[in-house]
Amino acid sequence: MKKILSISVITMTSLIILNSCSPKESEKQKDLSKKNISLKDLYKEDFYIGAAINDYQIGKTDTLGLEILENEFNTITPENIMKWMYVHPKENEFYFEETDKYIALGLEKNMFIVGHTLIWHSQIADWMNEVTDSADMANHFKNHINNIVSRYKGKIDSWDVVNEALNEDGTLRESSFLKVMGNDYIDLAFKLASNADPKAELVYNDYNLWKPKKREGVVRLVKQLQANGTKIDGVGMQAHWSLDGPSIEDIENSILAYSELGVKVMFTELDVTVLPNPWDLNGAAVEQNYDKFEGDPIMNPYPESLPDSIQLKLAKRYEDIFNLFLKHKEKIGRVTFWGVNDGQSWLNGWPIKNRTNYPLLFDRNYKPKKAYNSVIKLKNTSN
Ligand code: G3I
Repeated sequence: MKKILSISVITMTSLIILNSCSPKESEKQKDLSKKNISLKDLYKEDFYIGAAINDYQIGKTDTLGLEILENEFNTITPENIMKWMYVHPKENEFYFEETDKYIALGLEKNMFIVGHTLIWHSQIADWMNEVTDSADMANHFKNHINNIVSRYKGKIDSWDVVNEALNEDGTLRESSFLKVMGNDYIDLAFKLASNADPKAELVYNDYNLWKPKKREGVVRLVKQLQANGTKIDGVGMQAHWSLDGPSIEDIENSILAYSELGVKVMFTELDVTVLPNPWDLNGAAVEQNYDKFEGDPIMNPYPESLPDSIQLKLAKRYEDIFNLFLKHKEKIGRVTFWGVNDGQSWLNGWPIKNRTNYPLLFDRNYKPKKAYNSVIKLKNTSN
């Protein structure tokens, strides 16, 4: 972990923290910044804590975002650049420029580097959707996984090997992979990844993994891989949650069920939406289309700023979530927020486009929110 922080980072963070607090609170925060307290330092004995990053940080144009990243987090995930359609757009063409920059950034900042994601039905390259022969598809898996995992062997610490392969009832999703290759495609993906980098941590990543039926599906899947002698090290619970759900009890039951299998639990894509979603969202599936709600002020109630009452509700929700994480810290490998600040979150554009959401710990001006303070306070025993 990088131990020495630049003076400018410390100064910037002090300013940020001071600007967003009441006078009494700002005194406390001044003390925090003097002691150079940050999320990653406070949680360093518990689990990695990180953020998904995008072109702005990878290309180093978002300097304030980069300072937060360096000061607060010790693990990164690429939000988009490593998806199949970007990294392997044509059958025999790989595009590594962006990923190389991402890896260089992670190494420079001494981060635990996550690869996201090898096999996902969404954001797949068009040419893969035309493959109908099982042996052909297996060869494409081999080419894809071998090329990417070998290139970053020893540099990418953890791979989201297979993403979102399950339906809400725990059965396998009817993806093109399942249709063409049958159930074994998941096992093949994990085997290829483990052969290409035997030391990398290998994770199955999905949303709504707190749901009892889907939980059962994950347990079946992991047991099957283990019975085949296939290496799997973790289950990634994406954690795209809201102010009111899922319940802490449901999340806890999944942590317990997955860790009983002997694998680590990762919270890979944490964010908490504060906006109304009065229909059945059915998780985080990006294919769903809710265009008819665009521009409806009822669905976008806080276009200017978040009312204090909701700010406090969000802070309490994060406090409850992190209390649970701390209770089970020995079962948890990492907690990654899906974005650095609210303005960059995918939740401003999904499930309804052009809304103003507030799901993360840092606001649009890169200032820590009350939710940040509540996560800090859980570990700041000197307070
Ligand atoms: O890059 C193009 C740009 O050229 C174009 O002008 C613009 C027009 O819409 O689209 C841009 O691509 C968008 C891309 O994000 C990069 O910003 C895609 O439309 C958009 O669909 C894509 O959304 C991403 C989504 O995955 C689909 O890949 C979100 O940013 C990203 O947060 C989201 O992340 C997923 C995880 O990978 C898996 N788990 C669920 C999670 C949330 O859906």
